[in-house]
Amino acid sequence: MEVIIASDENTLARKCADIIESQITTLPDSVLGLATGSTPLGLYEELIRRHREHGLNFSGVSTFNLDEYIGIPADHPQSYRTFMNQNLFDHININQSQTHVPDGMGENPLDSGPIYEKKIKEAGGIDLQVLGVGTDGHIGFNEPTSSLRSSTRIKTLTHQTLEDNSRFFSADEFQPKLAITMGIGTILESRRILMMATGESKALAVREMVEGAISAFFPASALQLHERVTVIVDEAAASKLELKGYYKFVGKLQDDLIKKHRPSDWISR
Ligand code: GLP
Repeated sequence: MEVIIASDENTLARKCADIIESQITTLPDSVLGLATGSTPLGLYEELIRRHREHGLNFSGVSTFNLDEYIGIPADHPQSYRTFMNQNLFDHININQSQTHVPDGMGENPLDSGPIYEKKIKEAGGIDLQVLGVGTDGHIGFNEPTSSLRSSTRIKTLTHQTLEDNSRFFSADEFQPKLAITMGIGTILESRRILMMATGESKALAVREMVEGAISAFFPASALQLHERVTVIVDEAAASKLELKGYYKFVGKLQDDLIKKHRPSDWISR
């Protein structure tokens, strides 16, 4: 795992945007896996800014979101489809028909998972998957004890996740307890993974993910099985990492290297 510690949230957003920019300028028909939550908001703002100010081009890009709630329609204010439209898709030149979010309202929700997996395969697989992490270690909505080889399916949310995400729902509003999510196996099939985490509330999760034992009890630890993961965290989220000094040392050496080579040289399919 490559661990990059950014000094603050803005630097973190810029570093993540650099990786995406490099990906989509090198391969304009890239397939991106995208995440919701508050963590990637800064990244999406930065991508919108680069599109507006520098013409960053999304016209050939396709996207697959990690997950969606079950039981609320796509146009519901709290659906992940609405989140993506409002925070990214409506502000860039992406072809909306090339943006995919799992179907949380399908007639038979059990069919929606395999259908989504098929669509990802037909698109050629995910080139770069953006991820955040839940305080209980979930990625997408793969809650603790999710199979490390799981594919897109329905999951019941834990009390911890329901509580963490309750801030997005008003007190009298229906908050879904089920979601459809890419599996851990689906995520591990992507060619590259960009994991983002910010704030002290994620410090324990980041330590378990990077330095803990691989366990279905802490789904994000499965990323240790992937050969190309970049974890970008701010100082607060990095605060409990045992080898923090080492990651910073590597980062410094890498910055020197980047000055010599173009990062796009490292992108391949
Ligand atoms: C939700 C999403 C995850 C996200 C997590 C963390 O549960 N399904 O994909 O990573 O929230 O959210 P936040 O970034 O708001 O902490």
